[in-house]
Amino acid sequence: MLNDVLALRRSIYALGNQLPISDDEVIKIVSQCVLHAPSAFNAQSSRVVILLAKKHKKFWSTVVTALEKVTPPEKIASALKRVEGFVAAYGTILFFEDEDILAKMQKQYALYADAMENWLQQGNAILSYMVWQCLAEKNIGASLQHYGNLVEKAVISEFNLPKSWRIVAQMPFGNIVAPAAEKTFLPLEDRMIVIK
Ligand SMILES: Cc1cc2nc3c(=O)[nH]c(=O)nc-3n(C[C@H](O)[C@H](O)[C@H](O)COP(=O)(O)O)c2cc1C
Repeated sequence: MLNDVLALRRSIYALGNQLPISDDEVIKIVSQCVLHAPSAFNAQSSRVVILLAKKHKKFWSTVVTALEKVTPPEKIASALKRVEGFVAAYGTILFFEDEDILAKMQKQYALYADAMENWLQQGNAILSYMVWQCLAEKNIGASLQHYGNLVEKAVISEFNLPKSWRIVAQMPFGNIVAPAAEKTFLPLEDRMIVIK
């Protein structure tokens, strides 16, 4: 049973722009994830932007412009083909970390200053996983992408976001046009030990 629930979430790349639920329901799901995600020292440093309709398309056109500048000619066709799949989706959720909170936490917990960034990033990953899983439970496909280094400045400016937000990941989501490819698993006994 648990396996059925967890195995629902996969990286889905063939996405469409129809959703089985309303925008309001998507917003509610994401809100609940933002509220209830655990974070180191309850720092709550993760930030989320839900891009819908034209704003979703605008984001991916910014990625395309950036890719065209940096991708070697022999790789550009496949890079753009990949992005086409994300453009076809219904929306995109952007995940950020607020570096002002990081600085505050490092000051407040000086003993852990070196580890803090890693812990806050872990919190961001947990949040993105929660959203991914909750969408999957509504039969909505999604994947996790990392084009942020190419577009962070443009995104902050285009969507008028706080300058202290550092982009971490992007999650295009939509209806599932084709299921994920079969997944391979390393042997569980190599990855997990039970000690009594
Ligand atoms: C931290 C993290 C970063 C990832 N980054 C990317 C990415 O940049 N692009 C991508 O297509 N998939 C990315 N993935 C998805 C993985 O490739 C995928 O989860 C893995 O192959 C297992 O497949 P599944 O998601 O279908 O279970 C990422 C996953 C994680 C957990």
